[in-house]
Amino acid sequence: MSDEIFPVPDKWAETAKINEAEYHERYARSLTDPDGFWNAESQRIDWIHPYETLKDVSYDEADFRIGWFLGGKLNICANALDRHLEERGDTPAIIWEPDDPETQARTLTYRDLHARVCKFANVLTVNGVGKGDRVTIYLPMIPEAAIAMLACARIGAVHSVVFAGFSPDALAGRIEDCQSNIVITADEGLRGGKPVPLKANVDAALEKVEVGRVIVYRHTGADVDFNPVRDVWWDDAIEVAAPLCEPETMDAEDPLFILYTSGSTGKPKGVLHTTGGYAVWASMTHEYVFDYRPGQIYWCAADVGWVTGHSYVVYGPLINGATQVMFEGVPNYPDHSRFWQVVDKHKVEIFYAAPTALRALMREGDEWVTKTDRSSLRLLGSVGEPINPEAWDWYHRVVGERRCPIVDTWWQTETGAAMITPLPGATALKPGSASKPMFGVQPALVDPEKGTLLDGATAGALVITDSWPGQMRTVYGDHDRFFQTYFSQYPGYYFTGDGARRDEDGYYWITGRIDDVINVSGHRMGTAEVESALVEHPLVSEAAVVGMPHEVKGQGIYAYVTTNAGTDDNDELRKELVQWVRKEIGPIATPDVLQFAPGLPKTRSGKIMRRILRKIAENDMSNLGDTSTLADPSVVDDLVANRPQ
Ligand code: WTA
Repeated sequence: MSDEIFPVPDKWAETAKINEAEYHERYARSLTDPDGFWNAESQRIDWIHPYETLKDVSYDEADFRIGWFLGGKLNICANALDRHLEERGDTPAIIWEPDDPETQARTLTYRDLHARVCKFANVLTVNGVGKGDRVTIYLPMIPEAAIAMLACARIGAVHSVVFAGFSPDALAGRIEDCQSNIVITADEGLRGGKPVPLKANVDAALEKVEVGRVIVYRHTGADVDFNPVRDVWWDDAIEVAAPLCEPETMDAEDPLFILYTSGSTGKPKGVLHTTGGYAVWASMTHEYVFDYRPGQIYWCAADVGWVTGHSYVVYGPLINGATQVMFEGVPNYPDHSRFWQVVDKHKVEIFYAAPTALRALMREGDEWVTKTDRSSLRLLGSVGEPINPEAWDWYHRVVGERRCPIVDTWWQTETGAAMITPLPGATALKPGSASKPMFGVQPALVDPEKGTLLDGATAGALVITDSWPGQMRTVYGDHDRFFQTYFSQYPGYYFTGDGARRDEDGYYWITGRIDDVINVSGHRMGTAEVESALVEHPLVSEAAVVGMPHEVKGQGIYAYVTTNAGTDDNDELRKELVQWVRKEIGPIATPDVLQFAPGLPKTRSGKIMRRILRKIAENDMSNLGDTSTLADPSVVDDLVANRPQ
């Protein structure tokens, strides 16, 4: 099955914006004539002042810099809203579908959205936010999340959205790192019928770090603590806000947002994106990957707390004048048909989600899907993690009734938008392969040890050999870390952290992270982050965390924990430690398995042999390799003997 190739359906080849011949022609031009190619693509944005230099990039340590569309001036919020008012002011921009299907959906036209964003931008200004200031947004999937982000962009403030599933501690760390003086939140979120105590989480975070202002949107109406000196109700502030707000003139390279993401070491990094290149990149990829034309109903099921929500819920679709569904809930509430009921209710044509949700639904049986209509669907997308051929087949055959191409888009927080992806009218599909590079993207494989470029059908570490407009520009506050993390392993290239295979047709197959990052349900998690949360517990002396295969989540979290001498390693403590990690980071970091380890396998120089820990986590004991170089080989026998089943 996985060898099967699905040719481009005739109808798509005839009608899509990009067919196969056009893909090859444009891809070639994007490399041979970047000035001509990007000059044409940049026209999709309304510039206040045209750019003067397309690109100024060096990956050399000595004069390391990345810049695009230099000298260009624009406002990305005006591109997402104001310029649509004349032609489609009364067209729905966001159709909000609540967690509970009994609650009324809300539709905001481009005119509504514009009016709300202008007012909220004035609220920010009145509360002391100016150009360049950082604004922390901790909101659920409600239109106000997009409104808050766009309002920041309108006045040139830099938003830092923190996923509303993160703990108070994680939130505090992110507020502190970017030194924001304001948090925008809601009383509560709602997911699968369960309230999420957002305001209470903010209050807890603000015991560790101070801000001057908290703006609270009343969403569920729950009773929450309110500090009259520091807190402001969103609605009260809007009521007295002035309706007009001129968009600020921003330089192409002015910061647009910071989004924290996990890396192999240390604390999460503040990935910084700038304005001009990101605007062109998010808009262009959204148009071509989804073959998007205004009027079509588009739904990206990602949360705004992740990069997919930034590029494919907020900026890409709105710049392109899209009509989209924004969904507050979860795929299995009230039942496993929910996604497809929402598709039917709003006549969704283009649907974009993560494989983990599909795998979870696939397990529940086909009937939840087949009892819905889904005849509006034309195109399906996948993002965030490798999609296994079995889930791909189910998505294609059961959800899409073999009628809808699947765009399996590979990209990262760092890359801003889709980098390796099929185009529905151009690319024959191979289940499990992200396939071919987007225009302007030059992927390559290198030998992981030697760093030499590899040719032909082969496997290696995935690098990108030159810059693209939506590339991140720095790690906020730590430019050296930016260089060290991405450009030092393989000099001259951007290193993705992923491994990949390239087949004889030049298709890329992403095999997953080759650094110490794991991908749990499409969410990135640094093993180091989970380890440091564990060792903060007073009874833990050491911890090592690795990924393990997980049927639904893709990868699960396997934690080895060494407790202080004399501690009773019982089940109660195991549960307490699992809860501890949930509290320190958030539910997405919950360890799936926690094994007490009297000792960890270390080399004589003290380095933990993670390779062995991964094998034990995978339950692959036949393949532990050479353990004779360990300081104490017997610890491995102990771990194997005591592996929880
Ligand atoms: C993984 C999400 C295989 C990959 C947009 C990458 C994928 C990490 C795919 C980035 C895909 C994302 N196939 N793997 N289609 N898309 N990944 O920053 O390991 O949350 O490095 O961005 O997800 O995760 P991030």
